Amino acid sequence: MNNQELRELVNPVFNTAKSCVQLVAAAGDEDARRLLDALGFESFGTHGSGQPVPKEMLEQVKKLFPAYMILIETRFWSMNRLIEHRKDCQIVDLPCGYTSRGIHLSRQGRTYCGLDLPAVIDAIGPAAASIIGGNEAITYHAVDATNYESLEAAFSRDSHDLLVTTEGLLMYFVQSELEEVFSNIRRLLRKYGGSWVITDRAYYLYDKEVVAATLENDPVLTAMYAAVTNRAAATTADVKFNDNIFFDPDEAKVREFIRKMGFKLNEICMADYLPEQIVSLKGNPAADSAVRDVFKKMKFWELTVAEKIFKASGHIDINLPFKLESEVKDGSFNVSIQGRMDSITAPELLEKFQNAGDNIKAIHVDVSRMVYVSSAGLRVFMMMYRSLENKDMFEMTGISDVVREILETTGFEEFLIH
Ligand SMILES: C[S@@+](CC[C@H](N)C(=O)[O-])C[C@H]1O[C@@H](n2cnc3c(N)ncnc32)[C@H](O)[C@@H]1O
Repeated sequence: MNNQELRELVNPVFNTAKSCVQLVAAAGDEDARRLLDALGFESFGTHGSGQPVPKEMLEQVKKLFPAYMILIETRFWSMNRLIEHRKDCQIVDLPCGYTSRGIHLSRQGRTYCGLDLPAVIDAIGPAAASIIGGNEAITYHAVDATNYESLEAAFSRDSHDLLVTTEGLLMYFVQSELEEVFSNIRRLLRKYGGSWVITDRAYYLYDKEVVAATLENDPVLTAMYAAVTNRAAATTADVKFNDNIFFDPDEAKVREFIRKMGFKLNEICMADYLPEQIVSLKGNPAADSAVRDVFKKMKFWELTVAEKIFKASGHIDINLPFKLESEVKDGSFNVSIQGRMDSITAPELLEKFQNAGDNIKAIHVDVSRMVYVSSAGLRVFMMMYRSLENKDMFEMTGISDVVREILETTGFEEFLIH
């Protein structure tokens, strides 16, 4: 078995990226067409499942093409337009698949980093380079989104203000993987700043409505579309789709999950970012207008890290003397720490906390002037954290990069930052 076959066995999902670039090319994107050539992929619809389609069905099947194209065309172009509005961001396309986005952005002088599984990157990296030539601002990196080290390796000291874009990823994860991915991206955003824009929930909620509007609610075509889609899903039956909380029909649960993972959610109306001309619907103004109406309900979900990030760590004087200021107010123990928290100084915090009494329901620790914390200090924080009945009531703010790194490398961030 060769390397590619092994990779396919480990994660067959990478095949889904092929139809995405085929559909974007079918919807008229020249760069995607050039990529198809460079990758050696056939055009959309020229090569089926191997079973010839009976002639009488062929015309009907062709009527379904716009329904397939529209989902990927709108996703691709609306995200491109959002990117155009965010001029100062560095784009992190996770997963990039075989998208032509990097080629587009190379012409706009933007910084773009395409991330995907090794099987995809091995192909898209050289294919894109064969079209745009060498360009240091356009890079591709093999990652597994569930593996932080692989993601981190794609960034450099100069990375900043990331715009992580996700189209067609979260549906492939089971819950534990989803949580890994959320915490990995939160870590990246904390380190480099920026936000994470996701389209997956919008299409999960509204893809059927978009397809119905495209097919002008024709019952025969809509039923055919569903039958073909279900058959395609059955061929990747060992990969379950939408099997995690991000795709729970109960929106409140999804929002709670996002909050618990340490993100704030901002919704952006997708209709405002649709292209002027939707190629899949060319010559069909009624369908065009109906589809645009559906998009008024669809939202990009933009996630930013919820807790305050102390950015000015470089300005803290590392020689600041140790000082604690604390108070107990409405059952909350509020403390602000200045200087080093180590074996010498940490006992003072523990003493203050113990003297605060037994009725503490919440803790707020301001560490914006704390320059270092040793394991002794961390132990005190953990004692405080554990004493709370409701662990969500522990809040640490003003975390500098140095302190954050310590919390991350010691594994305490999992408890102390949420
Ligand atoms: C439906 S495609 C979407 C690709 C691209 N966003 C597009 O629109 O063309 C799904 C992609 O997710 C990638 N993928 C699946 N699991 C992944 C993981 N654990 N880490 C990184 N990428 C992953 C696949 O390799 C595939 O390229």
